[in-house]
Amino acid sequence: MEYLSERLKAIYKMVPKGTAADIGADHGKLMIALFEGGIIEHGYAVENKKGPYNRLVKALKEKDLLDDVVPLFSDGIKDLPSGVHTVIIAGMGGNNIIKILKDSPRQLKQIQTLIVDAHNAIPKVRDEISKMGFIIADEKMVREDDVFYEIIKFIRADIAFYGDKDLEFGPILRQEKSTAFKEKYQNRIVEIDHILAKKDLPKSRVEQLNAEKKRIETIL
Ligand SMILES: C[S@@+](CC[C@H](N)C(=O)[O-])C[C@H]1O[C@@H](n2cnc3c(N)ncnc32)[C@H](O)[C@@H]1O
Repeated sequence: MEYLSERLKAIYKMVPKGTAADIGADHGKLMIALFEGGIIEHGYAVENKKGPYNRLVKALKEKDLLDDVVPLFSDGIKDLPSGVHTVIIAGMGGNNIIKILKDSPRQLKQIQTLIVDAHNAIPKVRDEISKMGFIIADEKMVREDDVFYEIIKFIRADIAFYGDKDLEFGPILRQEKSTAFKEKYQNRIVEIDHILAKKDLPKSRVEQLNAEKKRIETIL
């Protein structure tokens, strides 16, 4: 897994042994590393766009892994065979991730571990996925090229209740307060102060930014 980015390494470390599917597998790097590292014994790499799908097939072919990590040209989780208990959905918008899961309730039922890396709408992702019958088992904040990524591992469990702070900042992230986590929110405070220094901001915007700053200060 040495050749994986820090973000993909964080995902790799959360994958349990067994069979897994990577939805939006694109370059295929994660599934190849998981197979070569002995974490998965079989997998599915799903893509719904021709370009990435062709790239994926080429990468798997070069490694002679087409029987071990099966490429599927498909939308989301809808064509996943039974027996796939771990699903990874990374590098997509939060609303797309939620849609993929909601569109296939039958396949969703078999998922025991769900690892997501949403690039936006993260509080909504925590909220919606926990309402689907998962709890948050692990979280990591990764900084790469000045972009902060939140990797969240959900496992199947009774419905959990997460309050507003947990949804916004992550129940585990806000307890752990890693360096990347603190940097992200310290940077955001600087950004907010910068915006607030501008003249003629609408009152509602000033109030919204001050409220966000206050929320951040309570968790830092
Ligand atoms: C930005 S790439 C991320 C690639 C990889 N997962 C990563 O994190 O590095 C997102 C990929 O998801 C694919 N994708 C988006 N929606 C999808 C869907 N509903 N089903 C399958 N693939 C999808 C896109 O075609 C694209 O290749």
